Amino acid sequence: MADISADALAKAKAKVDQLVPGKKVEITVCDVTKEAQVKAAVEHLDAWGGVDVMFNNAGIMHALDADAVETPEEIWDLTHNINVKGVWFGCKHAVLSLRRFKKSKGSIINTASVVALVGSATPQLAYTASKGAVLALTRELAIVHAREGFRFNNLCPAPLNTALLQNWLGEDKEKRARREIHFPTGRFGEAIEQANAVLFLASDESSFVNAQDFTVDGGMTKAYVTPEGPSQPPAPVNNAAKDKLDDE
Ligand SMILES: NC(=O)c1ccc[n+]([C@@H]2O[C@H](COP(=O)([O-])OP(=O)(O)OC[C@H]3O[C@@H](n4cnc5c(N)ncnc54)[C@H](O)[C@@H]3O)[C@@H](O)[C@H]2O)c1
Repeated sequence: MADISADALAKAKAKVDQLVPGKKVEITVCDVTKEAQVKAAVEHLDAWGGVDVMFNNAGIMHALDADAVETPEEIWDLTHNINVKGVWFGCKHAVLSLRRFKKSKGSIINTASVVALVGSATPQLAYTASKGAVLALTRELAIVHAREGFRFNNLCPAPLNTALLQNWLGEDKEKRARREIHFPTGRFGEAIEQANAVLFLASDESSFVNAQDFTVDGGMTKAYVTPEGPSQPPAPVNNAAKDKLDDE
């Protein structure tokens, strides 16, 4: 696992060690905007036999990101450096690793967003544009590398119950309601629901799934008028909130 935050990595590793003791997991502090750091993180896996799956998930949505008029240029650049250039570096070094180990299959999953598929009247223009770029670069790489057996797919999550969005929405009921009205299921998505989709895309079970914008959104991007009333069944619990896995 790689992330720019050493604290987040330590916490994630402690949780993995707790839930699946004995499994080998390593953490690497890596800023995805720095190619040398991405290269080093990927090459570290040479000792494991190279990369089979790469999940380029790091991304930001900055609080100062706004519309065409109000978005500061430095926020545009920062967002694109992390959300687009970081994904490019991840893809580049995954391909180099797959080739170094003469692999005939590999799966790269890049996180985009539903905002790359549908327009939003609550704009974060830099973020939206960056996720559109992820869709396009992933699609092209999927076609370029198809005969090497390297698959590239986008993950397009709906608004999620994670720090990125929830910290930004805070206690603002009006801001929340503007979004929640569009959720057919009546709730935000959970990280585990994205993770399960990524597992599928990573696995050989998805061997003929390539160049897709794999949308995990509870139907949000296909909805017009959404239902009313309580949401059911309850949202699944994220592994991060568990002390042991369900099937133990
Ligand atoms: N939360 C949502 O509603 C939502 C919706 C659609 C798509 N997404 C996307 O899902 C992905 C994960 O988001 P999340 O909701 O888990 O957010 P999060 O903020 O909880 O996690 C993002 C992670 O990226 C890391 N990161 C930030 N800059 C980095 C850098 N330069 N190098 C390496 N790591 C860096 C952060 O430390 C953090 O751990 C992002 O790409 C995000 O855009 C999120």
